[in-house]
Amino acid sequence: ATDVESQVLEALNAHGEIADTEAFSRSASPALDHQSVVGTLRSLEAAGMVSTEGTERTRLGLSSEAQDYLSNGSPESQLYNSVPEGGICMADLKAQLGSIADIGFRQAMQQKWIVIEKTETGQLVKRKVSEVQDKVAQQLQDVADGKTLAEAEVKDLRKRKLVMQTTHTVYHVTKGPNFSMQRRKAETDLTQEMLQRGTWREAEFKPYNFNALGVAPPSGHLHPLLKVRAAFRKIFTQMGFEEMPTNSFVESSFWNFDALFQPQQHPARDAHDTFFVTHPATTPLSTVPEDYRKRVQSIHERGGFGSKGYGSPWREGEAEKNLLRTHTTAVSSRMLYRLAQQGFKPAKYFSIDRVFRNEAIDRTHLAEFFQLEGVVCDYGLTLGHLIGVLSQFFERLGLSELRFKPAYNPYTEPSMEIFAYSKELKKWIEVGNSGMFRPEMLRPMGIPPGVNVIAWGLGLERPTMILYGINNIRELSGHKVSLNIVRQNPICRLGL
Ligand code: PHE
Repeated sequence: ATDVESQVLEALNAHGEIADTEAFSRSASPALDHQSVVGTLRSLEAAGMVSTEGTERTRLGLSSEAQDYLSNGSPESQLYNSVPEGGICMADLKAQLGSIADIGFRQAMQQKWIVIEKTETGQLVKRKVSEVQDKVAQQLQDVADGKTLAEAEVKDLRKRKLVMQTTHTVYHVTKGPNFSMQRRKAETDLTQEMLQRGTWREAEFKPYNFNALGVAPPSGHLHPLLKVRAAFRKIFTQMGFEEMPTNSFVESSFWNFDALFQPQQHPARDAHDTFFVTHPATTPLSTVPEDYRKRVQSIHERGGFGSKGYGSPWREGEAEKNLLRTHTTAVSSRMLYRLAQQGFKPAKYFSIDRVFRNEAIDRTHLAEFFQLEGVVCDYGLTLGHLIGVLSQFFERLGLSELRFKPAYNPYTEPSMEIFAYSKELKKWIEVGNSGMFRPEMLRPMGIPPGVNVIAWGLGLERPTMILYGINNIRELSGHKVSLNIVRQNPICRLGL
């Protein structure tokens, strides 16, 4: 036991209580620091050896400036003591005293302890009285000792910001249920030795703390994007959609752009948005069946199926350029072509995978991100079907209010941007783009007349950020990804 602890226990043993810890600390010899008495009481109370009851008490305390004067004297007395018998020139005095010179000078003048004489060389400071009494230092000492000062004295010290009112808690201490003059250290383990010697009978065991947090078992963690992707996949599968193969990041311009009736001069094709690939730089057009290739060329150049086309030459070289796919609609175009070749049957497809855009990266944009694509092909589909499917999908995600805004895509007509109301963010956010594929895209593939294809593309990152409360996309993907976010997020979100 520490010295403080044994003094506390002895006092309790002798008197049954300590009425006031402050008085107790002060009257001990030597005096005890109240704070360390309180610390000791906390630890004794935790062991059930004492009980305490606190009361707030206010008293005067010393500012840190005052602490300094307590040991070195008040500024005015320091100044007075620096003035030698014959006087000292003002500049030297100031240099000698540093930061307390001004206040010391002002106070010493007020007390009429010093005078100033003008000489040819400047101002000379001289003593006016032969000795002084440092009352301020004495008052500060009294405050430190807990003595009471006259009201006027307190007022002056407060004005000089040397003392202020502080509150602290003092305690009334009584014996606790486990009071004893000696601490017993509770055992934490039952040992073989205790069993053999039978000492376990007398031993006191530390109770289990069932409120303590256990050590989290080490485990793997799924990235939030993967969790939301799994949820999206599940919803589409439940709605009867089939997943498209998305395994080629490198695509030819033909499938990414030309098959979609995207004109060859379209700005999205130029290097600002598209990452072109240099090794290998091209996919020969001979990989696309010749009749289809010719129909694509002719729809671009001359039109057909009620369309005028673009009226400008279509170059094979442009269509052969390799790129990192800019949207998963490239996957849909391959799939629709294949569907038409197999003999058309109504179908519902989806895909979720990475796409690439040559964009400046900021808190809401990445150069590669996940796109979720959906396609429904059937006879007689309308915009109403598109709105219906999207509403159902977002409803299952917990985003039940949707708004649509007319938009433009080279391959859809009409086109609509999709906005969802986020209850979590309390605002409308853009979640994707959609439309009905144009006949200029579908007819050359061989999709039969009367068949309409409704389609949409959604981002995966934005809904994930909303669902997981992440506001910087760079914490979610890329080289600055936050591993803490990955570790700390719940295994699953209920309701998704
Ligand atoms: N490809 C479009 C995009 O990347 C999304 C889209 C897909 C729009 C299908 C309409 C139809 O923004």
